[in-house]
Amino acid sequence: VRIFSGIQPTGRKHLGNYIGAIRQWVEHQDRGDPAIYCIVDLHALSLPYDPPELRTGLYDLLALLLAAGLEPEGSVLFRQSDVHEHTELTWMLSAVTAVGELNRMHQFRDKSVGQRELVSAALLYYPVLQAADVLAYRAHEVPVGEDQREHLELMRDVARRFNARFGEDILVVPEHRIPEIGGRIMDLQEPANKMSTTGGTAEGTVLVLDDPATIEKKIKRAVTDSGSDIVRAPDKPGVTNLIDILAVARGVAPHAVEQEMRSARGYGDLKAATAQAVIEMLAPVREGYAELRGDEQRLEAILAAGAEKARAMARETLSDVRDAMGVGPPRR
Ligand code: AMP
Ligand code: TRP
Repeated sequence: VRIFSGIQPTGRKHLGNYIGAIRQWVEHQDRGDPAIYCIVDLHALSLPYDPPELRTGLYDLLALLLAAGLEPEGSVLFRQSDVHEHTELTWMLSAVTAVGELNRMHQFRDKSVGQRELVSAALLYYPVLQAADVLAYRAHEVPVGEDQREHLELMRDVARRFNARFGEDILVVPEHRIPEIGGRIMDLQEPANKMSTTGGTAEGTVLVLDDPATIEKKIKRAVTDSGSDIVRAPDKPGVTNLIDILAVARGVAPHAVEQEMRSARGYGDLKAATAQAVIEMLAPVREGYAELRGDEQRLEAILAAGAEKARAMARETLSDVRDAMGVGPPRR
């Protein structure tokens, strides 16, 4: 299967990003034919940002992904803006995208209310660029967290509409892969909200690069629920979240955690075990990051090699798309 996913360029990735996305990327990279992973710097332009920070954040993230175990030789790891086909295809796809659909996207609604100066057209177009990312590679499978479900649905509609209008089988309609456990990790302080560096609480957000003492402190102060049973339940969002995190960090099913915790003396035991497991899961990433981040020339070389592989694939799709749409000279 051809796998594609994207991630925004900042090193401030949190436990939700790691569990919902990065871990899956690494786990499935060998299944990919190929696995294509894209650092989406153009998406970052849709909200106010600082240009120098965009570059340093991109290196931070690339070093983090490599430290997490992504193999740039076996897969395709590249920077979105290096492959111009993404922006060109965005325009082509916009011809079969309804403004009403874009306007209804939850992410657009949520992010636009926070903007004082201007709600950019880029913010509205964000899902079209995301569709172009995936469709340019005719990818079958898209590993993402739960919050991307709506964007994936839109992308599928756009691909279907494009094919219906311009020719069946030009684009591939992709499937999402959202993990059953860990697709939506919640804020440790406000377990009704997803963990997020932009919308969440600082205390309730564990960063992948946090040191072990900080991770322990944040998890031990996690808000739990009334009662003392350590079980997953709709009225126990805090406990459910910790059980899910522990299960994923250990690579076991949540019910195995529930079973083990039957003999626990209280939520304190659950928190201690979770903190320990998360620290162990993230330690190699943090250590590897420190080694890899310094050599920016090497990081650029990895991006350049990835872009070359990506471009070759995207170019083929764009040639078919241009031809089907009657754009440019006829193909011979
Ligand atoms: P971003 O950092 O926004 O580019 O997100 C990268 C990936 O992390 C996407 O696949 C998101 O769906 C996923 N993600 C973001 N927040 C969470 C969360 N709280 N739980 C699980 N996955 C998440
Ligand atoms: N919008 C995604 C996020 O915020 C990132 C992304 C951009 C993406 N392009 C993509 C994810 C293509 C999957 C496929 O997490």
